[in-house]
Amino acid sequence: LLTVDTTRLGPVVSPQLGGIFFEDINHSGEGGLYAELVNNRSFMAAATPLHWSTVGGATFAVDTAQPLNQALTQSLRVTAAAAGDGVANEGFWGIPVRPSTTYRASLHVKSPSLTGRLTVAIVGTDGTVHATATTGALTGSWREHELTLRTGPGAPTTLNARLVVTAPAAGTLWLSQLSLFPPTYKGRRNGLRVDLMEKLAALRPAFLRFPGGNYLEGNVIADRFDWKKTIGPVEQRPGHRNSAWGYWSTDGLGLPEYLQMTEDLGCVPLLCVYAGYSLQGAHVTGDALKPFVQDALDQIEYITGPATSTWGARRAADGHPAPFPLTHVEIGNEDWFDRSGSYEERYAAFHDAIKARYPALKLIATTPVTSRPYDLIDEHYYQSPSAFQAGSHKYDGRDRSGPKVFVGEWAAQEGRPTPDLDAALGDASWLAGLIRNSDQVLMECYAPLFSHVNDNTWATNLIAYSGLASYNSPSYYAQQMLRTHRGTVVLPTEVRALPGLNVVTTHDPAARRIYVAAVNTSGTARRTAVSLKGVARTAPYGTVTVLAAADRKATNTLANPDAVVPHSRSVSGISPTFTATFAPYSVTVLEVRTI
Ligand code: AHR
Repeated sequence: LLTVDTTRLGPVVSPQLGGIFFEDINHSGEGGLYAELVNNRSFMAAATPLHWSTVGGATFAVDTAQPLNQALTQSLRVTAAAAGDGVANEGFWGIPVRPSTTYRASLHVKSPSLTGRLTVAIVGTDGTVHATATTGALTGSWREHELTLRTGPGAPTTLNARLVVTAPAAGTLWLSQLSLFPPTYKGRRNGLRVDLMEKLAALRPAFLRFPGGNYLEGNVIADRFDWKKTIGPVEQRPGHRNSAWGYWSTDGLGLPEYLQMTEDLGCVPLLCVYAGYSLQGAHVTGDALKPFVQDALDQIEYITGPATSTWGARRAADGHPAPFPLTHVEIGNEDWFDRSGSYEERYAAFHDAIKARYPALKLIATTPVTSRPYDLIDEHYYQSPSAFQAGSHKYDGRDRSGPKVFVGEWAAQEGRPTPDLDAALGDASWLAGLIRNSDQVLMECYAPLFSHVNDNTWATNLIAYSGLASYNSPSYYAQQMLRTHRGTVVLPTEVRALPGLNVVTTHDPAARRIYVAAVNTSGTARRTAVSLKGVARTAPYGTVTVLAAADRKATNTLANPDAVVPHSRSVSGISPTFTATFAPYSVTVLEVRTI
């Protein structure tokens, strides 16, 4: 029996409960959400031209003697033996080609000896030229060239292509910051991938936690997300080693782009500031911590300050005069790993400085501290599907007087690169528990969000993609269902004699909707009476949305993206007491209209 008591209200559902967490892991940013198609565009990734090759009889080398500027201290020296010689970039596992598509290319070039123009083309690995354009005249000192490349209607949809740059004659030239963008979300310059942003927008996130995770910290301090090196024109950003996840970051996806992303998704930033601890154990204390605290204050000013403030002016120069809304700042990440115990001191230093200048900001601690208060504590959970299915009730018995919780990373781990239905049932059970307890758990976000199918370093991720296509996991759909079919207040719900069923019911009094979300983790259909205690009348029809499959190991893939997707239908026979059946291995949301 399932009894929903509408006469007693449970907790108000935290309006900021559901967010997303982005960090550059599994090529989530570089080669992923960040739409740049050229891999190692600035030649800063190594002392050799990684991801580049020669064309024809050309020779090439990374050159530190001809920097573009003080940020991009390496360029590519190319010596062509004849016209048509040059270099090619392999992209991130191929350059995606689509018919009738316009690409924006740009490159910095100099050549004291060559006259004429370079040819820039997207060329299939079979030699077919899909799109081509030429630069302006070459010059002896650095000059930026911008080009438009357009594929024809007959172009294939393929990743079997490279970006090829060729010289007009024999001679030597230098290249720097060589970039190629396809159309981006909302047409932003230096923007983000359309399909992936659409998937994020459809989750209707309340906030974006960024930029990590381990990516924030780096293995060593020099590899942290050093935000001041991620603002301004992209050719002024040196980039950094993403040592946590094993590849180069150009920082083209920098602080301004993360903030624009929040605005484009209609959510607010949840900023994680580097707090003087990196993954291999380096930790900063005493006076040495002061510059890092100042960096955090400056970062908050960049985000929230008026355009007349020092850092607000930099944001305005980066194209966004209006401040961004900021309510929460997280100090560090997973500082329970810091065995030195320095977090107590580090948190206190950041707390005191931030609260003194921004008293309204809510601060999130990553592990408990005693000398200073915190508004939220960030808890992370990576567990098995069965542990998450059982964990639906973890917060039910929580001491309500304790600190409020931000579950900033969580996932039932089974399946790669994305979770299977079994994991989704765990995730939905767990999320039902978070919603039920959203007087305690004020915010949550699943992790990680993305994996490139060719770099699945972290096994289980919400969304996966190649350079051409992307798909949502069953867990994505389960979370989307529980987010978008949800009221504003929890209704106490009693579940009797229904083993394996995890339920949360919410009510939207303004819309007169009751949402019964039920996760059936068992392989047996559960048929039960649903009693809406205190409801006098309902509309006779309701809507039911179901995510289910006969096999709990069922999953989605690039080749079969719709194997496990939700289906909605209208159901009749709804009344204050009605009968419902919950399919085996399913997530179901029943929407009832009260009259
Ligand atoms: O989400 C993947 C990693 O898990 C994060 O970078 C880190 O915070 C956690 O350990």
